[in-house]
Amino acid sequence: MKKNISIITLLSGFALLFIGAMILSSCEGPMGPAGTDGTDGIDGVDGTDGVDGTNGADGNGTCIQCHDADVVLLAKEQQAASSHHLIGGNYERLSADCAICHTHQGFTEVVGTDLTEASADIVDPAPINCRTCHMIHETYTDADWALVIEDPVDLKFSEGTVDLGGPSNLCVQCHQFRDISPLPVSGGDSVSITSSRWGPHHGPQGNNVWGVGGYLIAGSKTYPSAGSHPHSDVGCVGCHMAPVPYGGRTAGGHTLNMSYEYHGSTEYNTGACAGCHSSIGDDFDYNGVQTEVDDLVAALEAIFVTKGWIDAPGDLWNASSGSPLKVTADEAGAMLNYKIVTEDRSEGIHNPAYMVALLTNSLESLQ
Ligand code: HEC
Ligand code: HEC
Ligand code: HEC
Ligand code: HEC
Ligand code: HEC
Ligand code: HEC
Repeated sequence: MKKNISIITLLSGFALLFIGAMILSSCEGPMGPAGTDGTDGIDGVDGTDGVDGTNGADGNGTCIQCHDADVVLLAKEQQAASSHHLIGGNYERLSADCAICHTHQGFTEVVGTDLTEASADIVDPAPINCRTCHMIHETYTDADWALVIEDPVDLKFSEGTVDLGGPSNLCVQCHQFRDISPLPVSGGDSVSITSSRWGPHHGPQGNNVWGVGGYLIAGSKTYPSAGSHPHSDVGCVGCHMAPVPYGGRTAGGHTLNMSYEYHGSTEYNTGACAGCHSSIGDDFDYNGVQTEVDDLVAALEAIFVTKGWIDAPGDLWNASSGSPLKVTADEAGAMLNYKIVTEDRSEGIHNPAYMVALLTNSLESLQ
């Protein structure tokens, strides 16, 4: 009993305290001023020193691997200055689709990818130059003479893989067929050509040296199989960069030219051929093959003009009529073969037996 009373007394005491606190808090006064800031804590202990970085390479030591008293760089610059890459002027083809082959920036952006266009048109296009082909100023040592790509080329716009050997594969990156649409298929439907620019475009040399992409019309000449052609082992570089007597600035080496003007006449760099064709004369018409190719081209052209497929020797298919040119697959194939050989501009030298077969069989199919 006594115990119960004391619990009740305790509880009522707490209740009174609580009510008192409520009254006090509901009549609280304004907040007092903030106290002064406490004193700063003591500074932490310094961390342990980091490990020393590795020494940088000696700047002069690597730059002079190329920029030195030796005139190699100057000599190559002088040669390249006569190459059509630098002086051809077509690096103005700066739209995203053209720039991948025509400008330094477009090529550099897509090289090594499957991309067929740059991401945008190129502002301030630069022509093909040392940096387009070599890894200039990547490591700043002479390892930067390495070529940007040497892999076999999976053709971007046509079927097949071309392998002309390391350095020449670089050339094939750009010197290959462009998209041919509509593409005639042997034994397939007739095609309707709507563009005066229909064909492989101006740089079909990669396909041609390897021997791929032609329309194989049956005829009296057999086609050697792709990749087995005598000049695919020579590669672009083997002929176009071969040294030239007297002509260092105008042909051979980094000019990439096969012929040059010298004292008012055209000289041909047959030194590029003599190692294999000891009987070659002073031009490229070895065994009359260029003459044979020119004659076949002229015979085909005459037929195309007669049929009205071509306005005049050139590349305007039925351009004046404005309507599409509807032809059978074989007829389109013959025109394609003609374009492949004429746009190539070696008059058959890039792949003699193959080109003679393309033209001969095309001519036979039309006669
Ligand atoms: C692989 C050889 C090579 C090495 C190593 C090299 N360069 Fe170059 N350099 C070149 C080439 C090639 C060019 C371009 C020449 C041309 O376009 O005609 C060039 C151009 C230049 C130019 C002219 C401006 C320009 O950018 O075109 C300068 C400046 C230059 N290099 C400085 C250097 C310095 C500094 C180093 C070392 C840190 C160095 N290079 C290392 C090859 C090299
Ligand atoms: C980045 C693309 C590209 C690469 C790589 C390239 N070329 Fe070219 N090449 C071109 C273009 C584009 C032209 C036309 C330039 C112009 O007319 O302004 C051309 C022009 C030429 C010409 C001159 C044609 C003429 O009108 O007389 C030759 C020869 C040539 N290239 C050979 C080569 C060789 C050999 C290689 C490899 C060592 C090579 N090219 C690598 C794109 C390329
Ligand atoms: C796959 C690479 C490639 C693409 C893409 C390309 N070209 Fe070319 N083009 C070349 C090459 C290589 C040459 C040089 C061939 C030669 O001189 O024999 C060339 C040459 C030319 C020439 C010079 C022809 C002459 O007779 O001097 C013109 C003009 C040209 N291209 C326009 C264009 C235009 C326009 C586009 C875009 C619609 C384009 N090219 C896209 C590779 C390409
Ligand atoms: C169109 C592509 C292309 C361009 C542009 C180009 N080169 Fe080259 N260069 C090559 C190829 C391909 C080789 C290899 C030739 C061979 O293997 O026979 C080469 C080889 C060289 C070499 C010898 C490299 C070595 O490892 O010994 C030097 C040096 C050189 N080039 C300097 C230059 C300079 C300088 C420029 C600019 C003025 C330039 N190149 C522009 C394609 C090019
Ligand atoms: C067997 C030697 C040989 C090989 C290999 C070779 N070319 Fe040619 N190329 C020639 C000859 C010869 C001409 C015709 C030159 C002339 O008549 O003035 C020529 C012409 C050209 C032309 C037309 C412009 C010019 O210089 O007359 C281009 C562009 C060209 N070649 C690029 C290439 C490319 C790219 C490759 C590799 C895919 C290649 N060539 C492989 C020998 C060769
Ligand atoms: C590495 C060796 C080699 C080089 C370099 C070379 N060729 Fe050939 N060429 C051959 C072989 C192999 C054949 C096929 C066998 C034959 O006809 O002699 C051939 C075939 C030919 C043919 C066909 C001959 C015929 O009667 O049907 C011509 C044309 C030709 N070459 C021209 C040239 C020209 C022009 C050059 C230099 C620009 C050249 N070749 C460089 C190896 C070479």
